[in-house]
Amino acid sequence: MERTFLMLKPDAVQRGLVGEIIARLEKKGLKLVALKMLKVDRALAEEHYREHRGKSFFEPTVQYIMSSPVIAMVWEGKNAVAQARLLMGATNPLNADPGSIRGSYALDISRNVIHGSDSLESAEREISLYFRPEEIFSYPKAGDDWLSE
Ligand code: PPS
Repeated sequence: MERTFLMLKPDAVQRGLVGEIIARLEKKGLKLVALKMLKVDRALAEEHYREHRGKSFFEPTVQYIMSSPVIAMVWEGKNAVAQARLLMGATNPLNADPGSIRGSYALDISRNVIHGSDSLESAEREISLYFRPEEIFSYPKAGDDWLSE
């Protein structure tokens, strides 16, 4: 089982999309194993987006992520990283499949409602940025046996 880090960005919270997006992830069969609301500070924002330091969109992206509370989450499941990326759709909503989260709810790459880890390595790094080990739950869930062999 993989774990991935997902964040509902400030626009998702402000636009009242939290419940709808979480429902999509739950219905897919992914298991919610950690969740918190927080205001991201500059140090955390810069660390989160450190691979983009120096790019033109770095500072606006840092400002955006700090602008209002976000929902940080860890989701678990078979191929969770790739499955969540599929549900999210392409980074630029213009290229996102219409049925995906970004394809359904976003217009602009700078306000694309959700972040998701792009690899297992990123997931491990991002999970540890936002959660202490004791904040992440391992638990059996009714229906687990019906999701994969
Ligand atoms: S890239 O193009 O490969 O560097 O992009 P990527 O690694 O997919 O993610 C870049 C993150 O920055 C956000 N962002 C932008 N990216 C590209 N161009 C512009 N103009 C831009 N503005 C913001 C983008 O949403 C990615 O953030 P996350 O949180 O990963 O979605």
